[in-house]
Amino acid sequence: MVAKHINEQRYAVFGHPIKHSLSPRIHRHFAEQTGQKAMSYTAIDVPAETFKAAVTDFYNQGGKGLNCTVPLKELAYDFADDVSARAQRCGAVNTLMFKDDGSLYGDNTDGIGLIRDLTVNLNIPIQDRTVLILGAGGATRGILEMLLNETPKQVCIVNRTQSKAHDLAELFAGLGYVTASGYQELNQQSFDLIINATAASLHGDLPPLPNTLLADNGYCYDLAYALEPTPFVKWGIEHGADISVDGIGMLVEQAAEAFYIWRGVYPETRLLIESNLLKQKQ
Ligand code: ATR
Repeated sequence: MVAKHINEQRYAVFGHPIKHSLSPRIHRHFAEQTGQKAMSYTAIDVPAETFKAAVTDFYNQGGKGLNCTVPLKELAYDFADDVSARAQRCGAVNTLMFKDDGSLYGDNTDGIGLIRDLTVNLNIPIQDRTVLILGAGGATRGILEMLLNETPKQVCIVNRTQSKAHDLAELFAGLGYVTASGYQELNQQSFDLIINATAASLHGDLPPLPNTLLADNGYCYDLAYALEPTPFVKWGIEHGADISVDGIGMLVEQAAEAFYIWRGVYPETRLLIESNLLKQKQ
């Protein structure tokens, strides 16, 4: 028998906490599907304080690329030597790649991941539609440019802390019609697509939403995901949404884009999303 030496190409997701990350499952599935036998992908718990040292260690041990999740995306942005234009708009990086010259390149695939899930997988129209985004944190900033590229009629950002919504609306004003609002001002308004980008779902909460907020034949999309429907997904179903789903499709699509950046091959995503594999307990 001839011994086969495989030169392992190491990838990982860094975050804190990271135990429940689905990224290893997704990337291993992509690697298998595309025949990338040398590729490995693990989840590594990295608190913010040790982020830079952990990236350097990973590179020294033969690391090729990383995903970064909460709370590391802004740190990854600062640490990268060079970032893509879309990462610059987000002020955050979720995908790092070690280049041959040892420099660190950062990109952000969250926005494109959301748009692919909305438009390709779910067939949800955005052009000339009104969109409401709940929340004005990093998650909202990460999707705004890509959303505005789809030329919606209006994107309204609503947030508990209104000043943060105003700041984001101002930052992205050059890319389309973006407005800002507080929750109490939402009465009498309705939107074709409502995207939940708050951290509320993670705590089993729901922002205060008027019953009339969703237009007829409207859509609800929660960037968060869980084994069970999130409170916002349930709200959408109860308020007559044509489609009300969580962000599992976006998670798979942002991973596919990262995989493409690293490996130059675009994996098939739809079967994985539809397979329910990711909704099973780990
Ligand atoms: P991320 O980077 O994931 O967006 P973040 O920056 O902490 O996380 O932002 C979380 C967002 O969820 C914020 O817009 C926050 O509102 P505030 O800016 O007013 O704090 C919002 N949020 C968190 N819990 C919420 C809740 N229970 N109801 C409404 N909004 C909530």
